Amino acid sequence: MKLNRNDNIVFFTGAGMSAESGVPTYRGSGGIWNEYQWEEYACERAFRNNPNNVLDFHELRRIEALKCKPHAGHFRMKGIEDKYPNTTIITQNIDGMHQRSGSKNVIELHGSLWRMRCESEGTIHEDLENGKYSNRYCECGNFQRPDIIWFQDMLDEKIINNTIFTITACSLFISIGTSASVWPAAGFPKLAKQSGAYCIEINPEETELSSIYDEVIREKAGRGLELCLEKVQY
Ligand code: APR
Repeated sequence: MKLNRNDNIVFFTGAGMSAESGVPTYRGSGGIWNEYQWEEYACERAFRNNPNNVLDFHELRRIEALKCKPHAGHFRMKGIEDKYPNTTIITQNIDGMHQRSGSKNVIELHGSLWRMRCESEGTIHEDLENGKYSNRYCECGNFQRPDIIWFQDMLDEKIINNTIFTITACSLFISIGTSASVWPAAGFPKLAKQSGAYCIEINPEETELSSIYDEVIREKAGRGLELCLEKVQY
């Protein structure tokens, strides 16, 4: 496959993309959900029952993310974005690592650890200091929650529609480091395939969706991306 300057390219990333930077994945060895029960830390019900517990958990996630830096693969992706203006990164990651490497066109399907939201007022605050909460409360007196999609939350409809529109129009879909086990994100590789995109999976492990891809690269994100770009004559 030879890329043209105006091709629509989608990078679809999951926790494995950040793993090479040192951010733990959710599943598999060292995965966050092996150590923590999501029912206690990552759902609306847990937040209602014990907000400080849930906020402590997310504060820890931010402090850990700040210790990590984007890796060569993130910067390579930014280079592709610069060369091919119709490139979109659709990420399930909430750690902001793509933006830290300079990427601009990023759709955050599951929100961001770096924003706080007041449910009562519908307002977003970005008032975190070095990953720590400067104030857990909104001015209205209610707890703020991280502006992320927890288990059992609905995804933002506008974001989903934008994602579907972008994937339907892409000619190259490169998935990196996702187990593709959480819906609706898990449906996006199939949508890309059905829409006629050339689909490549980069993941050291087989996933439930591996068989639908045109090519699979069994490598870690950084090296996998290098091999992938050789194949698409970047
Ligand atoms: N490079 C590429 N892929 C890797 C690497 C690496 N260095 N290390 C691990 N992987 C792969 C694993 O093989 C696995 O398939 O990354 C994948 C990580 O899977 P998950 O931990 O399930 O992460 P993800 O798919 O992003 O999870 C989706 O689930 O818990 C929710 O909301 C959370 O956004 C998250 C969603």
